[in-house]
Amino acid sequence: MSLIDDLNALRTEAEAAVSAAADAAACESLRARYVGRKGRIRDLTARLGELSGAEKGTAGKLANDVKNAVESLCDARVSALGGTKPAVAPAGPRFDVTLPGTRFPVGRRHPVYETLAEIVQTFARMGFAAVTGPEIETSYHNFEALNIPADHPSRDGFDTFYLGGSTWLLRSHTSPVQVRTMKSLPPPVRVVVPGKVFRPDTADASHSPMFHQVEGLMVDEGVSFADLKGVLTVFARQFFGPETRTRFRPSFFPFTEPSAEVDVSCIFCGGKGCSVCGQGGWIEILGSGMVHPRVFEKVGYDAERYTGFAFGMGVERIAMLRHRIPDIRLLTENNVRFLGQF
Ligand code: PHE
Repeated sequence: MSLIDDLNALRTEAEAAVSAAADAAACESLRARYVGRKGRIRDLTARLGELSGAEKGTAGKLANDVKNAVESLCDARVSALGGTKPAVAPAGPRFDVTLPGTRFPVGRRHPVYETLAEIVQTFARMGFAAVTGPEIETSYHNFEALNIPADHPSRDGFDTFYLGGSTWLLRSHTSPVQVRTMKSLPPPVRVVVPGKVFRPDTADASHSPMFHQVEGLMVDEGVSFADLKGVLTVFARQFFGPETRTRFRPSFFPFTEPSAEVDVSCIFCGGKGCSVCGQGGWIEILGSGMVHPRVFEKVGYDAERYTGFAFGMGVERIAMLRHRIPDIRLLTENNVRFLGQF
């Protein structure tokens, strides 16, 4: 049989088969079998080379016609059967809708700053305004104005982190802001002072060369030790819970007289004694006292007319107690998995 006959026979067979195809998938496989790149039409067009001249032209054109006719019959049949032509792969990257979405981690406050903010808020409700002061201080504000002369033994533990000479240093407590506040404002004053402080302590589970304090200062006519006790007792109850009891123990600070350490009943055992409070039932949270008249003299307040109290507490210590964090160094390691727990 000639190539022309074979092409015509292919056409007849293909048209019959496609017309009888049951579904779109069957149509597509017939398309591939007859006119696909590896289909039967390929074997026939390969034989074009055997022909010559006019015959070759006629057969070539017929091969094209057969291919187009079968293709369009396939298209028509596929759409009649409700199918579509195989989709061309979409350009660009494919999108897998079953993949989990992108997570945008939400930040949160560091436990130390969260505690610090809550302490400040608790005093704010009692009328204390928050003020701040410089971390780089003069030795005058850090020591002398607070009645800590150069040769005073209580200065030993803090006398460090000088910046060059003997004038500038990293403050060892927030108490110099008492001095700065009173020098810039006339009484009455009622402020709390959150901030960083620095001490030459070697880091261990409970010491860090940098930590945070909240200082408090209240000065007016007629402020007494009863006010100190009242304000700090209200603070303890609001901050640690209404059942909290307070205990004031005599102490010493050069800038307050009298002075007291303040303990709260253990927030874990309620005072019965546990491992957190060392079985004692009490936890020390701050130092306090009535502002020393010599401090009033240094800042130009009339010590005959005004009295006041001051206190200072360590924020890390309170945050560690609340969250039962066993080692202060965990707070500055920036381990997000640790910090994300609180
Ligand atoms: N500044 C003291 C300290 O760092 C705490 C304190 C503040 C004590 C105010 C009394 C009054 O230990």
